[in-house]
Amino acid sequence: MSTPDPSTAFALSGKLAVITGAASGIGRETARVFVASGAHVVLADRDAAALAAFAGELGASATAVPTDVSVRAQVEALADAASAIAPIDAWVNAAGVVAPPTMVVDVDEATIDRLIAINLKGVYFGSAAAARRMVAHGRGSIINISSQGAEIPAPGLSVYSITKAGVNALTRTLAAEVGPVGVRVNAVAPGFIDTPMISYRFVREDGTADQAAKEALFAARAANAPLGRVGEPLDIARVILFLASDAASFVTGETLRANGGADMR
Ligand SMILES: NC(=O)c1ccc[n+]([C@@H]2O[C@H](COP(=O)([O-])OP(=O)(O)OC[C@H]3O[C@@H](n4cnc5c(N)ncnc54)[C@H](O)[C@@H]3O)[C@@H](O)[C@H]2O)c1
Repeated sequence: MSTPDPSTAFALSGKLAVITGAASGIGRETARVFVASGAHVVLADRDAAALAAFAGELGASATAVPTDVSVRAQVEALADAASAIAPIDAWVNAAGVVAPPTMVVDVDEATIDRLIAINLKGVYFGSAAAARRMVAHGRGSIINISSQGAEIPAPGLSVYSITKAGVNALTRTLAAEVGPVGVRVNAVAPGFIDTPMISYRFVREDGTADQAAKEALFAARAANAPLGRVGEPLDIARVILFLASDAASFVTGETLRANGGADMR
């Protein structure tokens, strides 16, 4: 038997992918990488203006569907809109939020509810909507964006951490449920990645960035990883591409830790 062309196995030629959180950071870079790999992408985000502008940049390879992932009916409508184009081959749940660091003893209930609604229920709704349709077609790959924070305690980020731990648990359970019909479900747990999400750590109240604080933060996080740097969205987008592609055909129920080696197990 000859070895199949590896460039085909790692590509998404002719495939349809849904990406939530696609207007910024990791979701946005994933959309670029997917399009470069031959996919048509259905982009979802609650920031409709940024989403429309980005879809315009990607042109005919992208369809924008403004969506709040915490609203189940909107996630189902997103899945219907994507399915109307073609069967969904890949679904990436990248939409997520973080709250300002607050110790457990001080976290208010509204913060707990908000993060669970977006980071956990949003991923749950997306996974369920994708899985139902993929099972009907007997194929597909779901990729949930978790976090290093699910496994490494970070004081002040308890709610974020439990939502991501829940994402890991959901990933494994769903992988066991839909594996028998050929649908794969995996998570990616990024380390520290340079996206707008982490800017709250050095952006002042007036919106300007404290460059010295940013450099100190990045240096500390880089020193924490054997690879000696913080991550870029492209580092994660390529891992997501691998899990979406046929190259990962025997990978399911995994949480792939892409963190420069900061968390080895
Ligand atoms: N940046 C990091 O260091 C890091 C580390 C680990 C995990 N992550 C995870 O990666 C994912 C992407 O984060 P990012 O760093 O690219 O952040 P980001 O802030 O750049 O992008 C997140 C996107 O999600 C969208 N979003 C937020 N709430 C939404 C909702 N209810 N419905 C639809 N869209 C919504 C935002 O509008 C934004 O476009 C998140 O799940 C995050 O938790 C990020």
